[in-house]
Formats: sequence, C-alpha cells, structure tokens
Amino acid sequence: MYNINDIIREYGYVKITALQKVNYKEEILRLKKEKNVVILGHYYIDGELQDISDFVGDSLALAQKAASTQADIILFLGVHFMAETAKILNPSKKVLLPDLNAGCSLADSCPATGFSEFLQNYPDHIVISYINTTADIKALTDIICTSSNAVQIVQSLPIDQKIVFAPDKNLGNYISSVTGRDMEIWDGACHVHQQFSLERILELKNEHPDALILAHPECNKPVLLLADYIGSTSALLKFSQTNEAQKYIIATESGILHQMRLSNPNKYFIPAPPEDSTCACNDCNFMKLNTMEKVYNTLVHELPEVILDEQLSKKAYHPIKRMLEISEQLGL
Ligand code: 13P
Ligand code: SF4
Repeated sequence: MYNINDIIREYGYVKITALQKVNYKEEILRLKKEKNVVILGHYYIDGELQDISDFVGDSLALAQKAASTQADIILFLGVHFMAETAKILNPSKKVLLPDLNAGCSLADSCPATGFSEFLQNYPDHIVISYINTTADIKALTDIICTSSNAVQIVQSLPIDQKIVFAPDKNLGNYISSVTGRDMEIWDGACHVHQQFSLERILELKNEHPDALILAHPECNKPVLLLADYIGSTSALLKFSQTNEAQKYIIATESGILHQMRLSNPNKYFIPAPPEDSTCACNDCNFMKLNTMEKVYNTLVHELPEVILDEQLSKKAYHPIKRMLEISEQLGL
C-alpha cells in the first residue's frame, strides 16, 4: 500500500493514476464546489487550466484575491512563490499547489544568504523586492512589489530615499529608467524573459510591420528598447484589448496569449521567438508543470499543501501587507 506523503516527498505531486477514465474538467468543477475551494490561476498556465480557474490574473491581482477570499481552501495554479504568498496572507487556510517542483528561476537567482550579505553594504536603504522571491527574501524586505505596481511604489517614496531592489535586474533597471531613481539592484533574472531574441523579433517585425511589440519588463534591455508598450501581464492584456492595432508580437510567457485571443478573437497575436528556435523556451517550464490530472489529484487528496514556518511567515507578511496597502491607496 502506498503512502501518499512519501509519494509527494519523492515526486513533488500526487502521482496516482485513476483506474477508470476521469473527466477531469467535470470532476475538478464538482470537487471545488463540494470542498469550497477557490482556484487562482496565473496568466502563464495552460489555457485549459485558466478555463477551470475561478480567477485568472497577474501576481498582484492574485495576491489581492488570496487576501480577500472566503473559500476554505486555496488551490494555486501558478508557481511556488505565488502559493507561498497566498499562505502567508492566509496562515489558517489550506493552500494547495499541484506540483511542489513548480519553482521560479528568478526567485532562485536570489538566495537568502547571499542577499542578506548584500544588504549589509546598504544599511540605510529601503529594500523593495519583487513578489517573485522566496519567503526568506520577503522576510528581509520592507516592501514587496509586482510588475503592476513597482513604478508607483518607487515613486511613492521620498526622493532622497535610498533603495535596494531585488531580484530582477531587468525590471530594476526599467523602473530606474522610468522613475529616474538610482537604485542598488540585485543581479537576478528570469530564464524565460532573458532569452527572447532581439534578432528574431526584428525579423518578425519586418514580416509584420503593422504589428506592435508588447513586452514584459522582465525582458532584457534591447527587447524593452524595441517594445511599443511595456507592462505587467495584466497591463499587456488590457493594452491588447483597448489598442486599435490588429497584430501584436508578445514578448512574455506564451500562456498570456490564451486570454488575449479569447478577448480579441479578431486580432492576431504572435509569440516572440526565443534565441533557440528548437525549444519552446517562451513557455515557463515551471508554470507548465500544472496539469489537469495533477489538479484533479490535488483536489481529491488535498495535497500537496504549502506549509510554512510560522515565524518566517509572520516576518514575510509585513512587506506583502505594505504592498497591498500602498496598492489600495494608489487605486491599483
Ligand atoms: P505578472 O503577472 O505580475 O506580470 O508577473 C509575471 C511573472 O513572471 C510571474 O512569474
Ligand atoms: Fe519565474 Fe520566469 Fe516562470 Fe515567471 S516566467 S514563474 S519569473 S521562471
């Protein structure tokens, strides 16, 4: 007889195949209602998973939803730092993540020991960290931000306030260029956004001169310089809904194209190509670990669950709370 906790320790997810054929969509919808579960999905997960989510959004909107939910259980379809943030905001609730291996290269690019040593060089700086960080980094941070509110959060600080920004160097440099603030920036990056090919985007633009280039600020500088519009996933989606152009080249993870196509059925969306034409590297391999089968198993067994040390959770709560308060004041 198997022990389910041993399976999760070994694989990171519930690896049990149903003996009979399961209609995953039907069963997921039934189970989530029966167990009062809210499914929160990020724009980067597969389209079929976005379709069974109660709410699909960017990192800020998902944190806001997690903070206000009345559900008994939060099932997060995204990556670990997102589910962890939901747990920090709801310590008494069960927070489930279908695959514990769903990490984030950007969060991994900022280990806690290295970061606390880095901070010793900047004792009089305020620390702003992107939400794509572990709870350990959040506990070392004064204010969390996302790509939806980072510029406004930096602008809300006194002009002479010294700032450390972590972990994304591309987002940090972008914020610095928009706000004119000099910041000490940690040298981290996301492997998906880092590898869009400037050359191949230019080739696409030559083929489709009427297409607008929309880019996420996690992209590297040359891509951002080329972009017609830069914003968080929700900002890119909104731009594609309200702008009159009929064609767009999208430089961010390809999952966002699902919502863009759903809400703009007559517009044409082209995923920006990565450096290596043989891979689907504009797919985040971590986000794509979420599958219908794993979601079903997670709902049946209420596992894997995100568990956090209580003291760490309390420390990581304050900078997230501060972000939510500032965002509310700014109407974000
Ligand atoms: P946003 O959805 O906040 O734009 O974040 C993008 C991202 O990289 C999430 O991992
Ligand atoms: Fe992390 Fe990049 Fe994947 Fe977003 S796309 S979850 S930043 S690895």
